[in-house]
Amino acid sequence: MTNHRTTPALLHPFSKPASNSYHRLVRAEGVRVWDDKGNEYIDALGSLWYCQVGYGRREIIDAISKQLEQMSVYNTFAPWANGPAETVAERISTLSPLDGSRVFLCCSGSESVDSAIKLARLVHQLRGDHDRQIIVRRTRGYHGVNMGGTSVQGIAGNRENWGDLLPHVVEIDPDDIESAARLFAESGDRIAAVISEPMQGAGGVHTPVDGYLERLRELCTANGALLMFDEVISGFGRTGSWFASQTYGVTPDLITFAKGVTSGYQPMGGVIISRGVCDVLESDPNFLMRHGYTYSGHPAAAAAALANIDIIENEGLVERANHVGERLSAGLDSMVGDGILKEVRGVGAVWAGELPETYSDARALEVRDHMTSNGVICRAAGNSMVFCPPLVIDDADIDCCIDTLAQALSVVGGDQ
Ligand SMILES: Cc1ncc(COP(=O)(O)O)c(C=O)c1O
Repeated sequence: MTNHRTTPALLHPFSKPASNSYHRLVRAEGVRVWDDKGNEYIDALGSLWYCQVGYGRREIIDAISKQLEQMSVYNTFAPWANGPAETVAERISTLSPLDGSRVFLCCSGSESVDSAIKLARLVHQLRGDHDRQIIVRRTRGYHGVNMGGTSVQGIAGNRENWGDLLPHVVEIDPDDIESAARLFAESGDRIAAVISEPMQGAGGVHTPVDGYLERLRELCTANGALLMFDEVISGFGRTGSWFASQTYGVTPDLITFAKGVTSGYQPMGGVIISRGVCDVLESDPNFLMRHGYTYSGHPAAAAAALANIDIIENEGLVERANHVGERLSAGLDSMVGDGILKEVRGVGAVWAGELPETYSDARALEVRDHMTSNGVICRAAGNSMVFCPPLVIDDADIDCCIDTLAQALSVVGGDQ
């Protein structure tokens, strides 16, 4: 059959559909990837903020194939269960700060966010509090691209052109907690939940202002609203604890996760649900929760997650995140001292260096491209250069990332 098309069949995510300029990767090992032209890159972004343990880990590959051979797949809609899904839920609940929690499994961060939004609203409906529908979002927040996540994200450009999004969503200032306090004072009895990344990632790596998360917790508790932490990036060791909730000492009601749970070897996401929320869901024995995905609790994804969590534990990668971050941030800090960077932000092993005002966002993309040509993959978020490397990266490779950034800045330069 003829196929009338001038562009390639594959439409890439977050891409310009008219463009066809891609680096085709063929191999990945440790913290490095190689393209089909033989170029080698240090991956300072963990692919897309997710590969904690590095590429080509035999333990995970073997766990996945063993599971596929034994029972390739079966769904977990009631009444079906499988061992790996049950075990991984138990393991994640135990690692989390939510005592007595349960874990809902899905396949991506976006699905985890939509699930959490629905669960938050569901809880209030089940309690008979039918007017509680508002979801509060923070400017700069990123929560994936499903309709729920698109609606509750605070990056305005990502919400444009999709038609009507979810109603009852209100935005607060990401740094000034008084903005949240005012909203609660006006509409506290209609707020179902607040969604927040503890450390805002895709919005440019912004750590919380002192006391912000604590006060958000107080406001939610005082007003009967749920606090949802989106830990899709910050979970599974990235911030120097298993979850950033633990790093910042603030306990939410729902935690969304994905990415680092399998280091990306298999797609998996989920929601950790506090005991308080579970009590409501479990209160009526005849209540049927009409939510779930075909691949929720996929046994091969669960096997990948278990092997990945073993590696993180056995190799001390949660603690190692702090070492990676100290070296990375020291390198970035020295560039602030030299006047090459404006500001450095981050926690654990996720850091951003903001370029001086003379660099536009377009210029930042040129810096990124220059770094790619010189063998280091990082990301430009606005005019910040973002690093979120595998937690197994060694000191020499961290230093190489810093040197490559400095070199790119000296070549590309600002707009004026
Ligand atoms: C905080 C956060 N939430 C949700 C998502 C969406 O995850 P996914 O792309 O797996 O759907 C992301 C992705 O980067 C994220 O950073």
